[in-house]
Amino acid sequence: YGTQRINEAGILEIGGVDATVLTETYGTPLFVYDVEDIRSRAAAFHQAFRDENVHYQIAYASKAFSCIAMLELAADLDLSLDVCSEGELYTAVKAGFPMKNIHFHGNNKTPQELEMAVEHEIGCIVVDNFTELSWLMALTESKKQQMDVLIRITPGVEAHTHEYISTGQEDSKFGFDLNSGQADQAVDMLKDHKWLRLQGVHSHIGSQIFRAEGFEEAVRAVFQSIRKWEQAFGFYPQVLNVGGGFGIRYAEGDKPLPLGEYITRMVKEVKNEAAEMNKPVPEIWIEPGRALVGEAGTTIYSLGARKDIPDVRTYLSVDGGMTDNIRPALYQAEYTALLANRANDPAEEQVSIAGKCCESGDMLIWDLELPKAGRGDLLAVFSTGAYGYSMANNYNRILRPAVVFVENGRHECVIRRESLEDLVKLEESYSLSKTAAQ
Ligand code: LLP
Repeated sequence: YGTQRINEAGILEIGGVDATVLTETYGTPLFVYDVEDIRSRAAAFHQAFRDENVHYQIAYASKAFSCIAMLELAADLDLSLDVCSEGELYTAVKAGFPMKNIHFHGNNKTPQELEMAVEHEIGCIVVDNFTELSWLMALTESKKQQMDVLIRITPGVEAHTHEYISTGQEDSKFGFDLNSGQADQAVDMLKDHKWLRLQGVHSHIGSQIFRAEGFEEAVRAVFQSIRKWEQAFGFYPQVLNVGGGFGIRYAEGDKPLPLGEYITRMVKEVKNEAAEMNKPVPEIWIEPGRALVGEAGTTIYSLGARKDIPDVRTYLSVDGGMTDNIRPALYQAEYTALLANRANDPAEEQVSIAGKCCESGDMLIWDLELPKAGRGDLLAVFSTGAYGYSMANNYNRILRPAVVFVENGRHECVIRRESLEDLVKLEESYSLSKTAAQ
């Protein structure tokens, strides 16, 4: 999908812009988003649904990467939006995102967050548990305001992905459990509610999923419940939200299906199930985060210190690390990289790429083949567009990188680099014990 290439001078080019131009302009570490890449992925999802001739929504899971520019782009691409906190909703408000196309998620939405969602009249709230349900009932009753809701269920499907990003199994903090009858009870409570309009069902089985079978299985599991609800309560969903989780390519071994294929196979399963029940095909919603922005993002670092341990390993350190990409430390996630300023130079040695945090676990890539490199060289790490900047932090008081968008030979900064000033802007001197001593 992307526009990355290595130009005649051996320099990595993204969106028609040399990596060296970007780093000279904005410094490092730098997140670079290839806007064309995001466009074509959104288009591929849209096309697959259109080909299947179903009603649908593609909600960008903004937790993957949220900022005003990104949400403006998402709106331009006819995407809806999944938010899961007041901060994500606020960003959407600031971006002028159409509130009707926003879905609110989360296993512990606060009363304030629910109120904010209702006040902004967002598209729907995905109800996760009984606590939230009762708060929401009271809130809409007191405001005399209606709200569309989906109920989130845990379909009991194993996603075959890292345990930390797997959510569909029964023992999960998310959603109503199917086996114990809690989901049935929630449907019963919602089906004729005056203010909450139950539009449908949501399930999300996990992330970085390569097999379409996972989604097919989830659809079948959800429909088992739908059959039950149809019989017991006469409830049949208008909306079926199958969540996100479509896998992307981080490293060599990752082989995602073409985006359309996940959709085609999942939609076929929904059509089969609906036909068996003699019911209309519900509107189908998905919530991709990573699949829209993951591969579009590249992080460019400057290489710094080198440590050779003879016969053991060479560590090459970059000017960022787990503060801008915590995924290797958290999930043993793997990445590939190359020298952005000398991309055609032949590999000469094996090195391991370390971050600059005071933490042994702060390693980005183990055993990477590179030309002999060091200070003055730029390392481009690929597929960092999802859960990179969005999980960035200030550990060791390291400043968060800048983010730029590139497209058609042009570039623009959409999040400026954090400054030392920014770092302390929320802070005050203390006075308590000083005053007590007087
Ligand atoms: N919908 C729901 C309800 C979700 O919980 C998530 C992700 C998504 C959609 C989007 O999933 P995606 O298409 O991006 O895989 N920090 C982890 C991922 C956590 C995902 C949380 N929920 C990582 O870096 O892999």
